[in-house]
Amino acid sequence: MKKITILPGDGIGKEVTAEGRKVLEKIAATFGHQFEFNEALIGHDAILATGNALPDKTLSILKNADAILFGAVGHPHYDNDPSLKVRPEQGLLKMRKELGLYANLRPIKLFDELLEASSIKPEILKGADILFFRELTGDVYFGERGRKDNDNTAFDVMIYSRYEIERIAHKAFTAAKNRKCHVTSVDKANVLESSRLWRAVVQEVSQDYPEVKLTHMFVDTAAMKLIQSPRSFDVVLTGNLFGDILTDEASQIAGSMGMLASASIGDSVGLYEPIHGSAHDITGKGIANPLASILSAALMLDISFNMKEEAQSIIDAVSQTLKEGFRTIDIANNKTAKDKILSTEEMGDRIAQGIGIRETTPTN
Ligand code: IPM
Ligand code: MG
Repeated sequence: MKKITILPGDGIGKEVTAEGRKVLEKIAATFGHQFEFNEALIGHDAILATGNALPDKTLSILKNADAILFGAVGHPHYDNDPSLKVRPEQGLLKMRKELGLYANLRPIKLFDELLEASSIKPEILKGADILFFRELTGDVYFGERGRKDNDNTAFDVMIYSRYEIERIAHKAFTAAKNRKCHVTSVDKANVLESSRLWRAVVQEVSQDYPEVKLTHMFVDTAAMKLIQSPRSFDVVLTGNLFGDILTDEASQIAGSMGMLASASIGDSVGLYEPIHGSAHDITGKGIANPLASILSAALMLDISFNMKEEAQSIIDAVSQTLKEGFRTIDIANNKTAKDKILSTEEMGDRIAQGIGIRETTPTN
């Protein structure tokens, strides 16, 4: 029996996690597993109910879970008013910190069927397969911050300690051993002291992995290279802020933000979430792409529960559904009229139906 806590959060988070859960339920039924689901509050809804973006009750539920499926947090109300002290995103950041989720894995893999959905040329994209390791509990996100000079100056300290860099670097090098044996460490060591420590520590850690090639790259160059030659990357290792920005950029390699899943792991329970946000502009319309949440569920099965076959059956179902021409609007290919546009719920249904049905490969 596995206890899975669903944190729908705000905006389309509710819509997409419902589909992620649907697919997990189908996995349980098909493969004979027992998943017990519960839900808890985080973000804007939690603020409305308790005044706190991550209520204590939610935290204690999470500490008892075997895995967490998270949607998104955020609300335009806060974005337009920087003076508000309690904000939905604080819930997410506090949860990452409290649960020790220091490594955020963001796999960027393009389904061949979506080659045309990206704004990048297919011949540049084809075959791109990148695994980001974004550090998640340090950096400018968690450094000292404040105001001075009568509120006329503000600061956020970019800070990293050796142990924080070491532990994520080990994870990235270990992963690279099972891939193309290449780590690109991204920093801004030509300017920032924290990046110079980052670079020195990554170099030291790399000594333990002689079979893995290490490349250092400045973040501005990396931003350019990602869309110029995405195939030149294998594992990318980077800090919290650079990782946040670069993975949104890299989502275009996978066709859409709506496709990208992520896993946050560390000391204990794993948390699985799309990289996209709450998207209030499309909330309630039933058009959000649930595939990032569904693929996050696949990462959960693979990483937290070591259910490889089950995870693969989700990926196969996604691939097959795309092959058949089914799309949510964000990944629709305007060049052909062949696409069959589905709502969020219909896409979830399709994937759930596809679980366990194997495509028969023609022999010739
Ligand atoms: C992400 C998001 C978050 C982040 C926000 C919502 C705080 O953009 O997970 O990438 O910046 O980490
Ligand atoms: Mg982000």
